[in-house]
Formats: sequence, C-alpha cells, structure tokens
Amino acid sequence: MALRSARDSQIFIIGCGISGIGAAQKLLKHGFHNVHIIEATARSGGRIRTGRLGHNIVEIGANWIHGPSKENPVFRLACDYQLLDKESMSEENQAIDVGGHPLFAPNWFTSSGQKLGPETMGPAVELFMNLLERSQQFHDSGGEPLPSVGEFIKAEAERLAQEEWKEDQGNTAIRMAMINTLLKLECCVSGTHTMDDVGLGAFGTYKTLPGLDCIFPEGYEGLIDHMMKELPNDIVSYNKPVKCIHWNYTENGPDTKGMLFPITIECVNGETFAADHVIVTIPLGYLKKHQNTFLSPPLPLQKLHSIQRMGFGTNNKIFLEFEQPFWEEDCEWIYLVWEDETRLTDVVSDVKMSWIRKLSGFTVLKPTERYGYVLCGWIAGRESEYMETLSEFEVLHTVTQVLRLFTGNPTITPRKLLRSQWFHDPYSCGSYSYVAKGCSGYDIDNLAEPLPLKGSNSKPLQVLFAGEATHRSFFSTVHGALLSGWREAERLISHYIPASGSFSSKL
Ligand SMILES: Cc1cc2nc3c(=O)[nH]c(=O)nc-3n(C[C@H](O)[C@H](O)[C@H](O)COP(=O)(O)OP(=O)(O)OC[C@H]3O[C@@H](n4cnc5c(N)ncnc54)[C@H](O)[C@@H]3O)c2cc1C
Ligand SMILES: *[C@@H]1O[C@H](CO)[C@@H](O)[C@H](O)[C@H]1NC(C)=O
Repeated sequence: MALRSARDSQIFIIGCGISGIGAAQKLLKHGFHNVHIIEATARSGGRIRTGRLGHNIVEIGANWIHGPSKENPVFRLACDYQLLDKESMSEENQAIDVGGHPLFAPNWFTSSGQKLGPETMGPAVELFMNLLERSQQFHDSGGEPLPSVGEFIKAEAERLAQEEWKEDQGNTAIRMAMINTLLKLECCVSGTHTMDDVGLGAFGTYKTLPGLDCIFPEGYEGLIDHMMKELPNDIVSYNKPVKCIHWNYTENGPDTKGMLFPITIECVNGETFAADHVIVTIPLGYLKKHQNTFLSPPLPLQKLHSIQRMGFGTNNKIFLEFEQPFWEEDCEWIYLVWEDETRLTDVVSDVKMSWIRKLSGFTVLKPTERYGYVLCGWIAGRESEYMETLSEFEVLHTVTQVLRLFTGNPTITPRKLLRSQWFHDPYSCGSYSYVAKGCSGYDIDNLAEPLPLKGSNSKPLQVLFAGEATHRSFFSTVHGALLSGWREAERLISHYIPASGSFSSKL
C-alpha cells in the first residue's frame, strides 16, 4: 500500500457530460494519471447536444451561455477555443446585465387569430417581470408569504391587476391570459411542471452573471469536442451504463494486484471496475429514479431526502422550419395567448386533449441568413412529457393546427419538425433541476456532500458528487455543471496535495 503514490489512485468518473469532462481535465492537469470516464451512451456531451434540422444546426439540449462574461468559465473556454462570434465576446455584450431575463422583441398571437400590440400586452409583461424579480428576493430576507413562486405570482397578479388596470378593464382578461403564457414560459426556464412546485424562499438561490446570453454559431457540442481533444483518447468507456457503485469495502472487498480498493463499480453488462474514488455526475433525474439501487450501501437518509426534495423536471423544444415567416422581421420571440385562459394557471386540465396549450411560444432562430425561417417552440411539464410519446407526425399536425388558429392563416404548413425527448431519455430522465417547494440551498449542498459523510472513520472521499444539480447558485446550467466538476476534482487534489504543495501519501 505504501508503495502506491497519490497520483496512482484509481479515479472513475461516471458520466461524460461537461461536469465529468471538466473533472477529468483538472485531475489530469494535477498529475493524476489513472483517471477514467464511464459513459452510458455512445457519445460525450450529455445534455449538451447539437442536432440537425435539414441543413441547420439546432441545439437539442443547452442553447445559450447564460451570463457570458469573465466570471463564467464556459464563456472563458469558448473564447479560448474561438467558438463565439465577435459580438458575443465584445466588452459591451459582457457588460449588459439583465438579471437572467433578456427582453426579446416579441410578437403576440392569440387564439382568435389576432396579433396584439405592446399597448395591450406590454403592461402584462411588465407586471410579470416585476413579480418575478420580487420572487427572487425572499432568499435574502426570508419570511416568504406563500410556499411557491406560482402561488405568489398568481396572488399578486390578481391583486395588482385590480389596482393598476382599473382604468383599462377591457384589457384585463387578455392580460391575465398573457400572464398564463408567461407562467408557462417560466415553467420552461425552471424545468418544472408548474411554478406552484418551485419554492419561493429558495428561488433567489439561483444567481445570474452579467453578459447578454449568447450561442455557439457552430453548435454547443463544439465546446465538448475541444475539451475532449485535451483528454487522452482512451479515457472514456462508452456504452457502459453503471448499475451500482459498491462502496465502503473493507476486509472482504475485491483485491486487485494485491491492493485493496474500497469501491467496485458494477456495470449493467456485468463488468466491474475497482476504484479508490468515484465522481458521480449523472443527472439528478436519473439519481431520483434509481436512488435505492445506484449505491450499495444505499445513500444515507440525509442525502436521500435532499435528492427527493430537490426538483427535476422536463423542458422540451420543438423545432419547426418554414418556407416563409409569418412573424415580423425584427421579431425574436413569439408568444401564444389562449384568450379563454383568463383564470390564472400554468397547467392544462386534460393533458391528452390539450397538451399543446402548454406550448408557451417560440424563439426565432437568428440570423435568418444562417437558419432561414426556423422557430424553436418551448414546452415544459407533464404536457411536454406526454408530447414525447406522440409520433413526430402527430406533433407536427397539432402544432400546425394551432399555428393556423393563431395566425388566422389556414395554409401555414411547417416543412420540417424536430423535437427533443428529454424525459424519456433513460440517462437524463428529464431536463434539469430546480429548487422545489420546501427545499433550500442546504439540500443542494447535501447533494454535493461526498461519501462517507463527515465523522466516519472509513476511507475518506470514496464517492463524490458533481453535476449541474449540485451547484448551489448555478444549478441547471452548463457553467454550474462545469464548476461542479472542477470542484470535486479539486476536493481530491487538495486531499492529496496539502497547501504545502507536495504530494503526500495519504493512501
Ligand atoms: C432542453 C435543455 C435546454 C438547456 N438549455 C441550457 C442553456 O441554454 N444554457 C445552459 O447553461 N444550460 C442549459 N441546459 C442545462 C445544461 O445542458 C446542463 O445543466 C448541463 O449540460 C449538465 O451537465 P452535467 O455534466 O451535469 O450532466 P449531463 O450532461 O447530463 O451528463 C451526465 C452524463 O451521465 C451519463 N449517465 C447517466 N446515467 C449513467 C449511468 N448509469 N452510467 C453511466 N453514465 C450515465 C449521461 O448519459 C450523461 O452523458 C439545458 C438543458 C436542457 C435539457
Ligand atoms: C462503512 O464501513 C465502516 C467500517 O466498517 C462502518 O463503520 C460504517 O458503518 C460503514 N458505513 C456505511 C454507510 O455502511
């Protein structure tokens, strides 16, 4: 044992998304050479996934760098690899601070085939944005009046609408319908079924960075490709879903080359790997689904409860390509407003019959010279999960009917369709995490806590946890995921390399 140096320790990373890749990069840089990644699928990138719609590049997973400025490690990497256009890298772009809600130039279409202007809709957007901002402030002050963001926004919207729109009551009904549209869109942002599930007290835990969100003109996966090129060729074992991590082995554990390893990783195909440390980066959705079997001995209750409490939901995209645009030239965002939805709610009454009502609207892919006329529709929640079970043809048919209704143009026909299916992806089980009702930042810290928990006298840092859902202030993002991978790599590095800087043999 004493002959084995720290650098030799066997480190396995489960999952080849950006957090896993980031962890591997950092460990290798610090001289650890027995670093391996085990990935369930045939590809790296996980929820960063670039696809094609005809000739166009489209993002099936992550789309933007949220807050592209110096403090954002994804932005820094993308700049280093020269993957962004000039405008995105400019100082001006980095300085724009919109608090996570960029204001796009919108077009509003309603279910009676009308287009409404900013005089009618502007006040609804303004009221909603104010309420969203207020929802984020309880984090610091505490004493939230209601348990969820949805309940708070709905109660306040009702109250303020009566107060502020007294003189203009004719528009109140349509503005309430508009607020429903914005609530549905917010479900997409949070990746939740309803904003009633998102905790008001912890909503502000999420932090934004300055910089106007930007995209990768050649696709987000270019970032993954560049990062992978810096890793040894054979570092990843693909097509190897991990079934169970057997940890905390002592005397009776498997003995490889005369050395005792505390961990055995068992794959679905029966293969096993012996490890000193495992960094788990699988999505929270997967962990929730397999919480009782993924670890043996099972997760301690304290971690299990936080895994159960934290939210993880579905947000999907529906890409549509058109011959001709039906929107205005400068339009960046299209909202669909159902005129009969005047009671505030962000869920539909009958998922099978009315799932399409949950589709909040579309972003317009820009610039037109690059994409032609392509829209990206956004739909969250159980309606979105149901949409995944329908055939592409059925989805196309339903979306086409709705577009005809909303534009009053019975001939509109999208040429092509591509939609994501994150809920039924067996290795994601949804899109991303959110702070659910009743959970707090401590639950996120709990998720990130390594095993064995503090106070145990068995071998330290056996199972470590990274991934988007483990980042206290940037959960649900690519930069949060990357930072979490770095964090766990650093946890191991500083365990072996104390502040003095020299390797010690803590094995
Ligand atoms: C539709 C959508 C839009 C998004 N938009 C944005 C955006 O615009 N900006 C942004 O910053 N973020 C966005 N995100 C979030 C972002 O994509 C994720 O936060 C980030 O990519 C997560 O990285 P990760 O490494 O934590 O997890 P992942 O990328 O999910 O990596 C985990 C890996 O683990 C693998 N795995 C799972 N189970 C097993 C197993 N049993 N054995 C082995 N391997 C396993 C998976 O196959 C996967 O490759 C979006 C996500 C979605 C779904
Ligand atoms: C791990 O092993 C130690 C030593 O055998 C034991 O005291 C401890 O309870 C075990 N932990 C778990 C979670 O099983």
